Amino acid sequence: MMNEEIPNLTAFDEAALEAAFGSVEKRARAAAAALNGEAAVEAFRLEWLGRKQGRLTEISARWLKAAPAEAKKALGVRFNALKVIVEGLLEQAEDAAPSDAALAGEAIDITLPGTRRLTGAEHPITKILNEITQVFAALGYSVGVGPEVETDFYNFECMNFPPGHPARDTQDTLVISNQDRRPLRDRLLLRTHTSPVQMRTMESQPPPVRIVIPGKVHRNDAADATHSPIFHQVEGLCVDTNITFSDLKGTLDHAMKALFGSAVKTRFFPSFFPFTEPSADVQISCIFCGGKGCRKCKNSGWIELLGCGMVDPAVFAFAAEKQAAYDPKKISGFAFGMGVERIAMMKYGISEIGQFYAGDMRFLGQFA
Ligand code: DAH
Repeated sequence: MMNEEIPNLTAFDEAALEAAFGSVEKRARAAAAALNGEAAVEAFRLEWLGRKQGRLTEISARWLKAAPAEAKKALGVRFNALKVIVEGLLEQAEDAAPSDAALAGEAIDITLPGTRRLTGAEHPITKILNEITQVFAALGYSVGVGPEVETDFYNFECMNFPPGHPARDTQDTLVISNQDRRPLRDRLLLRTHTSPVQMRTMESQPPPVRIVIPGKVHRNDAADATHSPIFHQVEGLCVDTNITFSDLKGTLDHAMKALFGSAVKTRFFPSFFPFTEPSADVQISCIFCGGKGCRKCKNSGWIELLGCGMVDPAVFAFAAEKQAAYDPKKISGFAFGMGVERIAMMKYGISEIGQFYAGDMRFLGQFA
């Protein structure tokens, strides 16, 4: 024990006291000067001022006790002075001591490299969505949006899917519950396509219209490698006087070349959509094999990419209820709709649609 270093006093004259207290004070000062850190300061406090085993307690017990009566007063004065000095040393050390956290390495080391912050980047779906809208914006199209929770009227009825029409079965969705007392056309559902925004747009402005509408859509479809119950579409609508099918062909042929490269060819296959007449599926020459035939295009040389057609007069008739200028005898138009995930998968060579939604930074980081 350090306290045993306190020697016994045998002489109590002034000179002996001076020497004894002087030496203790010197040791206290040396110990205090070497203190480094909170823990060391605490150890110093215990060693010198600890109530039971501290050196001052020891001195008081041994020296004062052993002193003859006539030396006690002088010794007491020196003892009190020493105590004031040691307490002062402790106080100074406490103020100066760096915290143990700092000693443990949390002090600022300006030679260390800084902490890198990840910069945000666009999600690949957002990127392609913007790319598609840009292609049409450059042709003078404006960009619109519509609600994801739609009424049966906008999602189906005004798009010429009458109640009970079999085409409704091709776009099953999630319907909001407890709406049985509402008329069918007012019941809410998650929109199955962006086409209802065609009607919302026409109701809010007279022709001419050139608009693209990107957005999220929902289908009651099981997820697999190429299907997801939630996905994205870009809708397009062009209405003016004398819009013809060749305008539709020219516009989409240009758009596909802008998106996939000028070597890409398009062809239009007869199809059916309730809201267009005639309707077509657009195929592009396979971007993987250049049209020679490969596994990706099932050896046909063509890949089906989007739906389109001339706006059905029945759709214009619904629009004309709010904006009389949509008179199918005076105006005409075309519409198209494409799946964003499908285009992104083709452009980036992605085979699992689920990767877009998994939030895996190793996947997403590749598009940053
Ligand atoms: N709404 C259709 C779908 O989700 C896609 C579509 C086809 C949109 C033809 C159109 C169109 O505007 O003219 O399957």
